[in-house]
Amino acid sequence: MIKSDYLVIGSGIAGLSFALKAAKCGTVSLITKRELFDSSTGRAQGGVACVTDKMDTFEEHVCDTLASGAGLCNKEMVEKMVKEAPSRIKELMNIGVKFTKKDEFSFEFDLGLEGGHSKRRVLHAGDVTGAEIEKVLISNVCKFENITVYEEHTAVDLILDDNNFCSGAHVLNNENNELEVFQAKVVVLACGGSGKTYLYTSNPDVATGDGIAMAYRAGADIANMEFVQFHPTCLYNSEAKSFLISEAVRGEGAILRLKNGEQFMDKYSSQKELAPRDIVSRAIDTELKARRENFVYLDITSKSRDFLVRRFSNIYAKCLEYGIDMAKDMIPVIPAAHFFCGGINIDEHGRTSIENLYAIGETACSGIHGANRLASNSLLEGIVYADRAYKDSLKLLNRQHSRINDCENKINNSKKPSQIVFMQEWEEIRRLAWGYLGIYRSNEKLLKAKKRIDILKNEIDKYFADAPVSVDSIELRNIACVAELILRSAMLRKESRGLHFNVDYPFMLSEAYNTILNINRKETFTRLTAEE
Ligand code: SIN
Repeated sequence: MIKSDYLVIGSGIAGLSFALKAAKCGTVSLITKRELFDSSTGRAQGGVACVTDKMDTFEEHVCDTLASGAGLCNKEMVEKMVKEAPSRIKELMNIGVKFTKKDEFSFEFDLGLEGGHSKRRVLHAGDVTGAEIEKVLISNVCKFENITVYEEHTAVDLILDDNNFCSGAHVLNNENNELEVFQAKVVVLACGGSGKTYLYTSNPDVATGDGIAMAYRAGADIANMEFVQFHPTCLYNSEAKSFLISEAVRGEGAILRLKNGEQFMDKYSSQKELAPRDIVSRAIDTELKARRENFVYLDITSKSRDFLVRRFSNIYAKCLEYGIDMAKDMIPVIPAAHFFCGGINIDEHGRTSIENLYAIGETACSGIHGANRLASNSLLEGIVYADRAYKDSLKLLNRQHSRINDCENKINNSKKPSQIVFMQEWEEIRRLAWGYLGIYRSNEKLLKAKKRIDILKNEIDKYFADAPVSVDSIELRNIACVAELILRSAMLRKESRGLHFNVDYPFMLSEAYNTILNINRKETFTRLTAEE
């Protein structure tokens, strides 16, 4: 058994920021499924939204966030996050994060513009903002003796006692296939989202909803899982694995065009290319279906090569690898699953409905994003909630570790990696999610998905109980669980709002509600506090 004051699961911006703070007060076990760098944060291109310009105001950032969230944001939480943003940004800069300035000698940030923002307010490090932040956080984490990093360690399930108290997790050591018990006074889930539930996603392979699925199985409240954000512009190329073409490219004037060169966004929104992502993704999907085409073009040829290479060096280089010179060629793009606005329901301190268990970052549903996240608010949410959870957790450190019985370890641990290959089920779930739980849903699609997901989920749970646990089986069980949560939440919502569009209920209801699922209490609607 490995004991520490804190157990942090996940190594994106939220987990690493939390670990850095927590290590000043206690010992931290930080576990991550692959290497530290493997997280969605490392791929984030656009940046971090934060009011820094004197022509901008907190009120405007709040207003844009609420407008994007389509009536489901928790206004009080949004206001707090927006106001705390400058302090959290300062902390990042103090540990070495460098955001791009207007020019070499300037103190002013070069602010990016993205969909749904009424002002330029996105701090960025070129077009590799997440990678810059992740690199700096990792180098700081590695300096702390109080933090022990466990790479290639996959959390299987949380350990709870009868009083709904979480005291740790069962974790698979990927390298020797041994199960280990990690015990801690404070447990923090920072496992990111679950883009891999869908066939096409901008997310890395590790994004299999582990935090959400573990918390759900443990009985935590899970909220708003129907709100899956599709990023409108991922590179259309069978080898590019849905490489993201940052929204910041549209912020700099890129135009969406059909194959015949026509613009179309003015039919869908007065904000055109810079409308919130739900609107842009639906517009692209509508046009593609109407024309039976596979992609649209993103055209930034109005900008000079010099500008593009300077501002979007990573995207420019990646496109060139696939034979596209952004300065003279249009980029074929298509929407892909990008971000989960729902997740483990948390309060303002990151506390879940399970005692001693915190959830922060994309894995959580904090009320910030409502029915559709505003661009570049996610890295911000990660650092703000890491700070809030850390401050709240300090009071828990004086307790003793609770007792864990051997019999609580019920997982099949034969130490032999499972020989079962789950490709068929893996593929089927991801295709089902793409086809039936995608940008446009209908009652018929949801019912079809339900039939298959119920069967698959039963089969997978049975395999999991019978066969020795492996990384593949853990991830498969988790994406199946997430698919079921998306489906059940989507079936509960009898309206269209933000990212959830059901053609059989095309309108938004006047009352806003969250959908909350809980394995013990069955499913419940909760009327809510949205934008009071
Ligand atoms: C992007 O650069 O378009 C992604 C940023 C985000 O998801 O907020």
